[in-house]
Amino acid sequence: MEISEEPNAAEAKPSESNGIVPELVPSPVVTEEKTLVSAEISSYPSSILSEDKFIVSVEVCLKPSSTARNEDVRSAVERMLEKRSLSYTNGPIPVPNDDPLLVENVLRIDICDTDEWVENGEVLLFWQVKPAVHVYQLSEEGPCEELGGDGQFSSFNEWNLPAKEFDGMWDSLIYESGLKQRLLRYAASALIFTEKGVDPFLVSWNRIILLHGPPGTGKTSLCKALAQKLSIRFNSRYPQCQLIEVNAHSLFSKWFSESGKLVAKLFQNIQEMVEEENNLVFVLIDEVESLAAARNTALAGSEPSDSIRVVNALLTQLDKLKSSPNVIIMTTSNITAAIDIAFVDRADIKAYIGPPTLQARYEILRSCLQELLRTGILKNPQEGDCHELQNYASLKEKLLQPSEILGSHASSSSCNQLLKVAEACEGLSGRSLRKLPFLAHAALTNPYNCDFSKFLHTMINTAKRERSESLN
Ligand SMILES: Nc1ncnc2c1ncn2[C@@H]1O[C@H](COP(=O)(O)OP(=O)(O)OP(=O)(O)O)[C@@H](O)[C@H]1O
Ligand SMILES: [Mg+2]
Repeated sequence: MEISEEPNAAEAKPSESNGIVPELVPSPVVTEEKTLVSAEISSYPSSILSEDKFIVSVEVCLKPSSTARNEDVRSAVERMLEKRSLSYTNGPIPVPNDDPLLVENVLRIDICDTDEWVENGEVLLFWQVKPAVHVYQLSEEGPCEELGGDGQFSSFNEWNLPAKEFDGMWDSLIYESGLKQRLLRYAASALIFTEKGVDPFLVSWNRIILLHGPPGTGKTSLCKALAQKLSIRFNSRYPQCQLIEVNAHSLFSKWFSESGKLVAKLFQNIQEMVEEENNLVFVLIDEVESLAAARNTALAGSEPSDSIRVVNALLTQLDKLKSSPNVIIMTTSNITAAIDIAFVDRADIKAYIGPPTLQARYEILRSCLQELLRTGILKNPQEGDCHELQNYASLKEKLLQPSEILGSHASSSSCNQLLKVAEACEGLSGRSLRKLPFLAHAALTNPYNCDFSKFLHTMINTAKRERSESLN
C-alpha cells in the first residue's frame, strides 16, 4: 500500500514561517464528483481559481461498536465533504444524519491542522481544500503493565494505539505555533523515507525523537499524543500500532537483578511486534538521562557487576531496534546538556520544550476555565450560559481597537482579567498551570459560590504563591 495517500504532514513541505504554503495537487483522475466541484469553482473570480490546494486532515472516529470497513466509511465521508461544500476550520463537524452508514458507525468527525495553512482560526473554503480522510477506532483496552521488581510500580506499559486514554491529548497540549506540526511532519517524513526504501548511505535520517526541557512542560504527554496522531494518520499503511513506555528511572532504581529479566522479556516482545511488518511500534523512554547515569554508576563499581550488563543490554537492544523500519523511538529528558548515550546523540528530531509562552498560558488557562464553566463549578454572570471565552488571538485583536469602538464589553473584560492571570503565571510550567484552578478553588472561602471575577483574582494570588514557592 502506498504511503503517499497519507497525511498532509506526510506530503507537506516544511515551512519556517507559519504562513500559507499551498500544496500542489498533482493532476488527479477526475471523478464524477470532482467534476461537479470544478463546475462550482468556475463561478469564482479567476484570481482565486487555482490548482493549488491545502491538504487538510479529516479524522473520523468510529463508535466502539462499529464493525464497518474503514474504506467504506472513508468513501462515505469523502462524498459527504464534496456534497456539502463545507468551510474548513479546526474542530468537530456534525455527523450527517442523512447517511445511515455514518449515523450508525461514526462517533465524531474532526477537521485538523487548518492552522498550518491559515492563522487565527481563519476559514478555508471547500474549493481550496483537498481533504485527507483518516478513519480510526479507539482501543479501549487500557495499558498492559509489567510490574517492576518490587511489584509496586511498573517498569513498562504497553498500549494498542489509537487508545481511548490518549484521546484529546494532542489538542490539549498548547505550544508556540508550529511546534506540534513540525514534530508531526518530521516523524511522518521519517516513516516515508523508510517506507520508500531511501538508501541510508546516501541520505541519512533516523527515527529517534528527543524532547528535552524543564519538568512539567508536557514532554511525556507530547510523545504519547504524537504516537497516537501518527497511528491515526498512518493507519492505512500500519493497521496495528503499539506504544511501549519504558520507565527508565524505575527500571534502574534498585532492582537490577529483576531488571535483567524484564529487559530481556520486553525486547523479546518488541521484536515479535516489529517482525510483523504491518505493525508500527513506538518505544517511549522517559527520563532517558537515567540510562546514562545508571551506566556511569555501574561502571564506577558501586553497583553489582550484572547491572552493567543490564544497562548495556538495554542500550544495545535499542541500538539494534532503531534499524527496524517500523519503529519510532521517542525519548524525553529534563537535562538540556548533551546526554551521554550514543543512540540519543544521533537523534534527528531534537526539540526543546520550554515553559509556555504568554499565549500558551492564556490558552491553557482558558481551557481550564471553560471546563469549570461547563461543569457549573464556575458561574460567569456576565455571559449568561455561554461557556466560550475568547481565544488569545481575538482578544489581542480587540485590544488593538480604539476603546470607543470596543466599549466596555463584558466578555472582553473577563478575558482581560484572564490575560492578567496568564501574565502573573510567567515561568510556571504547563503542569502547574493545569493545577492552578484547583488550587485557587481550594483557596476560596465559599467554594459553592464561585464568582468568575473573584475566582480569577484568587488565581492571580495563587499563581504568585506558586511562583514564589517554585523559586525557593
Ligand atoms: N504546553 C502545555 N499545554 C498544555 N498542557 C500542558 C503543557 N505542558 C504541560 N501540560 C500538562 O502538564 C501535565 C504534565 O505533563 P508531562 O508529564 O507530559 O510533562 P513532562 O514534561 O513529561 O514532565 P517531567 O519532565 O516532569 O516528566 C500534563 O497533564 C499536561 O497536560
Ligand atoms: Mg515526563
